[in-house]
Amino acid sequence: DGSASYDFVIVGGGTSGLVVANRLSEMRDFTVAVIEAGDSVLNNINVSAVAGYGRAFGTDIDWAYQTEDQTYAGGSKQIIRAGKAIGGTSTINGMSYTRAQKVQIDTWERVGNKGWNWNNLFTYYKKSEEFQVPTSEQTSRGADYYIAYHGEHGPLKVGWPRAMTNGSVLPVVDEAFQQLGLPYNRDCNGGSMVGLTVHPNTVDSEADVRHDAARAYYWPYETRSNLKIISNSHANKIIWANDSSSEAVAIGVEITGINGVETIYASKEVIISAGSLGSPMLLELSGIGNPDILRRFDISLQVNISTVGENLQDQTNNGFSYDGNEFWLGSPTLSALPSAGHIFGDNVLAVASLVNSSLAEYAKQVSANSHGAVEEANLLAAFQLQHDLIFKSQVPYAEIVLLPIGHSFSSEYWPLLPFSRGSVHINSTDGSQPPSINPNYFMFGQDLKAHAEVGRYIRKAFSTAPLSNLVGEEVAPGQQHVPENASDSTWESWVKSTYRSNFHLVGTASMLPRDKGGVVNPELRVYGTQNVRVVDASVLPFQISGHLTSTLYAVAERASDLIKKGYIF
Ligand code: FDA
Repeated sequence: DGSASYDFVIVGGGTSGLVVANRLSEMRDFTVAVIEAGDSVLNNINVSAVAGYGRAFGTDIDWAYQTEDQTYAGGSKQIIRAGKAIGGTSTINGMSYTRAQKVQIDTWERVGNKGWNWNNLFTYYKKSEEFQVPTSEQTSRGADYYIAYHGEHGPLKVGWPRAMTNGSVLPVVDEAFQQLGLPYNRDCNGGSMVGLTVHPNTVDSEADVRHDAARAYYWPYETRSNLKIISNSHANKIIWANDSSSEAVAIGVEITGINGVETIYASKEVIISAGSLGSPMLLELSGIGNPDILRRFDISLQVNISTVGENLQDQTNNGFSYDGNEFWLGSPTLSALPSAGHIFGDNVLAVASLVNSSLAEYAKQVSANSHGAVEEANLLAAFQLQHDLIFKSQVPYAEIVLLPIGHSFSSEYWPLLPFSRGSVHINSTDGSQPPSINPNYFMFGQDLKAHAEVGRYIRKAFSTAPLSNLVGEEVAPGQQHVPENASDSTWESWVKSTYRSNFHLVGTASMLPRDKGGVVNPELRVYGTQNVRVVDASVLPFQISGHLTSTLYAVAERASDLIKKGYIF
């Protein structure tokens, strides 16, 4: 029937999946297939253009998922962007390359994931990276680095856009933020992120095109005879062996592709890299999940893991904009990463203790929303760690992207560590039907308050000299909507009516001990299965303060080594 068989079948040729495909196909005696719903975007100008952020939104390479009504956030639905292409979401994202705060990765090990700590991951951040040393022109515009933080021989090009924003902006912005107590950070990619920084991007600086997962990990290797991408093909479910072993054994994946429905057989492993929304969906369609949900769709249970699709953690994004007093050319990569101490100032201890006293209630509500699928005690433990990261370790609490472009000086910002959690679950047994996504944005008042406080901080920065001299009138939110000294509730209604998803979804197939609500173990193997793994943003147990791809590339690199260990002797 034309059905093919490979040693490894990877579902999802996106950011993480292509790393795994590349590294596994380095074992020349093993064959690797990648099933990808999208197609090549190598010649898509919306993808390659360095200044083209946003142009691919709403086109056929954007899944444009829709959430459920966001009842805590004013009621309306949100659109969640995600790439449907060889290269996945890395082909449409903002290209920012910032990692995480060291202690955030170390927390993964502390909760029971042996080997997942900053020092180990640091090796893999570097392994994935080909750092492009900035030219003297770029250096004069603020590009800066410590070479020890960077890799030189990896597939992924990291550097600065060829046309950077004029260097005169940086000292002005820096002087203003210094007055707010925020230091300058030469290079935020060594595990210490707090400060004002001119971060690199995933960009081929010389060719001046976006560097995405496909350009880095697939196209230069496409001639490998043991590596095959099956594109334009939707994975429907895992096919299981009909045996009585105590652990489920995958033998392949059913797909709907250009030949209709067929099975792609896997003799060794199935690796799911379909993203934070696609991966839990595929697990459920394959019989791994919460029995109450699977029963509703008559899906026979393979493994009972009630937390599949739960623990969805995203951030919310909002914007400021000012008329510019100058005209700026080029691409800025300037971000402020303040801690809670910077944002709350003298109030920080009071806020910390208020949040601390709310954690039990947060845990209770998230657990109740999941109908008990996520245990209150596990949530409480996670929230306590999150509280300590924010208030004791003082990891970055918000990212404020500074965008002097043309006649406008705008800013996108997002509080990095909200407590709200939601879920993604199937809506149908038909895998082509979108799932039901509910991030529960602003489920807790504290997450809204964070927006208001960061908004006030941004206003303060823009009204501090010399930055204040660069800008004229505040266009958004504007004094007419949010007057100076506006109350929390005024800020909050502006936030609810203007926010969007920050598209940093994690946690829906968390790497955690099984009794703490985990879906995969530290080898990223799905509990209760012999040969199914998940490798993508869904396994991150907690949100991080960096943009996600740098960490996903590193996680997928490390995962590849863990997988290969079982086959190279
Ligand atoms: P990813 O989405 O990359 O891959 C999943 C793949 O699986 C896709 O190719 C998809 O088509 C495929 N797939 C899904 N279901 C399937 C099925 N059933 N069958 C077959 N194929 C299937 N990060 C960053 O570091 N810097 C930034 O500036 C930004 N900015 C940004 C902007 C926007 C608009 C978005 C949407 C996201 C960002 N991000 C970002 C986030 C980052 O890009 C994102 O988190 C990762 O690329 C996700 O990588 P994954 O490997 O988890 O999934």
